[in-house]
Amino acid sequence: MKRNLTAAALSVAALLAVAKPGTDPQMDKFIDDLMGRMTLKERIGQLNLGGVGSPKVVGSAKGLDVAIKEGLVSSIGGFDPKAAEDAQRFAEDNMRVFIPMITGLDVVHGYYTTFPIPLGSSSSWNLPLLEESARVAAREASAFGINWTFAPMVDISRDPRWGRVAEGAGEDPYLGSLVAQAMVRGYQGDDLQDPQSIMACTKHLVLYGASEAGRDYNTVSMDDVTAYNYYLPTYKAAFDAGAGSGMTSFNVVNGIPSTGNRKVMTDLIRDQWGFDGFIVSDANAIAEMIEHGVGDPQTVAEMALKAGTDMDMSASLYVACLEKSVAEGRVSEKEINTACRRVLEAKYKLGLFKDPWLYYTNKDKRQETILSPENLDVARRLARESIVLLKNSDKTLPLKPAKKIAVVGPLGQERGELLGTWSYGMSADTMSTIVEALQREVGPGTEVIFSQGSNWTEAPAIYKQGGKHPSDSLLMQAVADVADADVIIATVGEPAIWSGEAHNLTNPTLAEAQMNLLKAMKATGKPVVVVLMSGRPLIIPEIDEEFNTILQAWHGGTMAPEALADILTGKEAPSAKLTSTWPRNVGQIPLYYNALRTGRPYSGFWATTKYIDSTNDPLYPFGYGLSYNDYKYENLRADKLEAKGDNDKIRVTVDVTNLGTMPGKEIVQLYINDPVAKISRPMIELKDFAKVELAPGETKQVSFDVTADKLKYYDSELNYGWDEGDFIIFVGPDSKRIEKLNVKWTK
Ligand code: NOJ
Repeated sequence: MKRNLTAAALSVAALLAVAKPGTDPQMDKFIDDLMGRMTLKERIGQLNLGGVGSPKVVGSAKGLDVAIKEGLVSSIGGFDPKAAEDAQRFAEDNMRVFIPMITGLDVVHGYYTTFPIPLGSSSSWNLPLLEESARVAAREASAFGINWTFAPMVDISRDPRWGRVAEGAGEDPYLGSLVAQAMVRGYQGDDLQDPQSIMACTKHLVLYGASEAGRDYNTVSMDDVTAYNYYLPTYKAAFDAGAGSGMTSFNVVNGIPSTGNRKVMTDLIRDQWGFDGFIVSDANAIAEMIEHGVGDPQTVAEMALKAGTDMDMSASLYVACLEKSVAEGRVSEKEINTACRRVLEAKYKLGLFKDPWLYYTNKDKRQETILSPENLDVARRLARESIVLLKNSDKTLPLKPAKKIAVVGPLGQERGELLGTWSYGMSADTMSTIVEALQREVGPGTEVIFSQGSNWTEAPAIYKQGGKHPSDSLLMQAVADVADADVIIATVGEPAIWSGEAHNLTNPTLAEAQMNLLKAMKATGKPVVVVLMSGRPLIIPEIDEEFNTILQAWHGGTMAPEALADILTGKEAPSAKLTSTWPRNVGQIPLYYNALRTGRPYSGFWATTKYIDSTNDPLYPFGYGLSYNDYKYENLRADKLEAKGDNDKIRVTVDVTNLGTMPGKEIVQLYINDPVAKISRPMIELKDFAKVELAPGETKQVSFDVTADKLKYYDSELNYGWDEGDFIIFVGPDSKRIEKLNVKWTK
């Protein structure tokens, strides 16, 4: 039976359900036995994750050592692997019943070797390569004892103001789900007990990416049809791929903080989706329920546990409150046991009971594991495939032989800033700058010079403005420095800290100081390549209007400079495509490609859904990205135009030809529209894609099997199915330039 998020269908029996033993009788027996030897306090202790941020503040204001001794620390999260190792060593020596710890960290886009921010790497649409990047991250992190990553972050978002768009895979549930699954597979591998695999954590449960107005932690209010069709699939996909854990979100879901929201944590995720791992709160989120206004510490701790949040990250409220709750009869021991069992099962599945030090097996190999040539190669390839060519209208790129290349802008000599949000900077010292990488790539015959040209910003309200010199004087210097250059590479955008958690912008555009630099560079009359590096889509209609050559290179990670040099020089042709819509102005937000139709479509005189001061169209649509090659699409065809029943399929084929002179990769996209359904359906929805390699002049037939599954959606009763009738299948290089085929599907 399906229960929706708003239906209040909770039975007391469900609340009191005993922990459902897993399917592994040996594990069940082991855990029964272990739990039988643990006191109530120790079982509650297994629900406490200590140490995120500072490993000392944990366990109801006790020092870490006291808390560990009393059995109040289940697992350690934190940035200091040495402290985590010491904590477990101390636990082994001092706990009454020693239970190994899980060590968690936000290994979001790499550990030492840092990959592009997830929004950037999703633009590669290269699932095997993304999986490889997560494998590398798992190998590096596990060499330091880390066996749990707080990733993947799979929140769908349609709002570039929200700083955390950087951490997700964009706006589309289909692509987002595949990326989520690739990352889970990469982190966890085939065997969670492999000391080079780490447990994934699907976050943030749920709907976090829809925070109102792009303000982090803000209210989310959403109807069920929207949630089920567009925002929930990525979480489910990550769990379906086997993610061992999940993390709650900071937002409310329909008025109830998600951390204490039983309809989400239990009815949806466990009962409907069948997830049987454990759920950790986001950092301090149980305590933040007090601030949300739903109760005092005792109440919120009980609410969160009863909702199905098994582990308390850094609020220490479970260890502070739950014994009392049991003593006073508001929480049953069974409820504690259910949560405790889930945590112990995860430890068992990670192999920690066989060997608490399993994840230190590769400690001796740390130095050869981190930043190895193979790992850096994955980073370079992924960074390359993440760089989106937005414009190249006079074919300035790839760069022609030149005597002198001038790199200007605040990113040209940076290292750590290119790593982006959720990176620990551990590779920064080993990195090249863009100037260095480009110099190496073009060779000694070409001089590459640098002139900063501007600070990040001169706007006093935004921190991280810049250095000692005001932008005006940097700009004058740059104009002089570029005087005899043949071409200007303007590396502009955001420092890492302008995106990520709690870093939202009301106007995500290029800062004025940097825009002035671009204008001054244009005024020189020299060709200017605008290289944007940012943690989010930027609103840049003026740049699009004024400049012929624009690359979006995100925060590309450890190998960002080399990857950029590869693309600039034409060592590789760009192949990335945007995974979110780029609006023309803030007023258009939220703007996304899979929007519903209205009753008065935007056309003609009565264009009532159009703004009077702006077009509705985005600056760059979802799926958009150019290459140095043009690709021709022709002969869109299907093996049949009518299909019948659940198991039928229509094979759709298109011929794609590389008209250019370079080997390239093209992302061929398939969209579907259901013109008449039980509810209004999006104009188009991505349902398949292929990234195909094409030699110069080569034509490939690219085929997709459209199955009835691809026609399914959740209706207003939240039934998942498809309706018979007409469907339109579209194929093309992005969500705008698509050709269509009309087909019919009967039951
Ligand atoms: C808060 C963030 O929302 C979450 O994504 C992260 O995993 C935790 N802090 C732990 O660092």
